[in-house]
Amino acid sequence: MYGKSRSCSNRYIINSIKRLTKFDLAREAYRRSRSFNMSLQKDKLQYMSGFGNEFTSEDPRCPGALPQGQNNPQKCKYGLYAEQLSGSAFTAPRESNVRSWLYRIRPSVKHNPFKPIDNGLFTNDWDKVKPNPNQMRWKPFDITKASQKKVDFVQGMATICGAGDTKGRHGLGIYIYTCNTSMDNKCFYSSDGDLLIVPQQGGILITTEFGKMQVDPNEICVIQQGIRFSVAVSGETRGYMMEVFDGHFTLPNLGPIGANGLANPRDFLTPTACYEDKDCNYTVISKFQGHLFSAKQDHSPFDVVAWHGNYAPYKYNLDNFCTMNTVSFDHVDPSVFTVLTCQSLKPGTAIADFVIFPPRWSVAQNTFRPPYYHRNCMSEFMGLILGKYEAKEEGFSPGGATLHSMMTPHGPDAECFENASSSDLKPQRVADGTMAFMFESSLSMAVTEWGNKTKVDEKYYECWQPLKKHFTIDENDTNGPSIAKKKKAT
Ligand SMILES: [Fe+2]
Repeated sequence: MYGKSRSCSNRYIINSIKRLTKFDLAREAYRRSRSFNMSLQKDKLQYMSGFGNEFTSEDPRCPGALPQGQNNPQKCKYGLYAEQLSGSAFTAPRESNVRSWLYRIRPSVKHNPFKPIDNGLFTNDWDKVKPNPNQMRWKPFDITKASQKKVDFVQGMATICGAGDTKGRHGLGIYIYTCNTSMDNKCFYSSDGDLLIVPQQGGILITTEFGKMQVDPNEICVIQQGIRFSVAVSGETRGYMMEVFDGHFTLPNLGPIGANGLANPRDFLTPTACYEDKDCNYTVISKFQGHLFSAKQDHSPFDVVAWHGNYAPYKYNLDNFCTMNTVSFDHVDPSVFTVLTCQSLKPGTAIADFVIFPPRWSVAQNTFRPPYYHRNCMSEFMGLILGKYEAKEEGFSPGGATLHSMMTPHGPDAECFENASSSDLKPQRVADGTMAFMFESSLSMAVTEWGNKTKVDEKYYECWQPLKKHFTIDENDTNGPSIAKKKKAT
């Protein structure tokens, strides 16, 4: 049995090799070595724990690179340049004042002029299409195969919806990224806002000026305004991204919950300094006022040997979320699942909340347990990282999305309503093996031309059409008002 199986297997391998051209073999060897290198790098990566800390980090190859007692000495050790990256106004109040000092081989100003490039499917122009108040659902977005066309992270960005204005620094954009190849001697940064990245298929190895982060599906990361980064992938890759123009993400206040719970600060991880001293033909892509620009320079921008400050990228594993929920009755508002928020100037009102629906126990009594039927003065964009969303078992797939715009009604589909209205309310695990999320905004978002015509599920509205009329006036119904009963009493 063993010999037969081995010979079949050998024959299969020989036939497979015959089918492969030299080019295929070389490409496969490159892919495997790249994937191997990515996993090696992933194992070596180190992070610092905490949210909004004053971090210090020095590449161990250059001990003492970080100046002591001052930020900007006359001469930096190792011949480094000192450069400040400001994430807030110089005079912002201390609790919201963020900046970092970078000690680098060359200052980031050493580049050729930026020139406009084709934006592709990326836009922050919300006025090109007519508004659409319908519930919208998208099937999983297609990922181009590398054999058809090589697409990197920047080339694969597409805007699905958004609102506001990059020049006025007020608003947000929601993007889908799909790619199949790593960015090669190329980096990206946004001058317009902070990016929250949610990988859905395939991990991404992100090299930033502050160090490297491996971000896998079920993890998220934030790369703030101005920070240059490059994305390496090891296959077909897809995810969601939100950009906020107003300010930075913070942890939500916990109120009566107390000092702990939801996303705990210690679970946020910031990369450590890791420089590359590389002279090469390098491309910097800038997103500026909603448009893409490209500039050439003669070196890698990831040449930061040491840095300190409280303005730095971070990642977070969604499994670490300490979920709060009702232990008595009624479905709690989804704000209780907020991981990060970017607040507007209106108290308690977000430009964007990042909310998740994690695995948890459901124990509420005398309650319709799934999300209630709802109309909202906020816009709700949802994505699914893995599994099935609890309020809609069918049709909402990983890599797809939904948008319920301002005052557009939504809620459980008919099947979910019928099941949840009659199910036995014993303690039950919910959402195991699933991670759905929501970008919720107080702004009224427009769907782009691409969003209106790509992978749209035109039949979405049908999931609510089987909802039945259950209204009855029953003399024996002890739960509801009974006209007949009242008449009898009088
Ligand atoms: Fe809702």
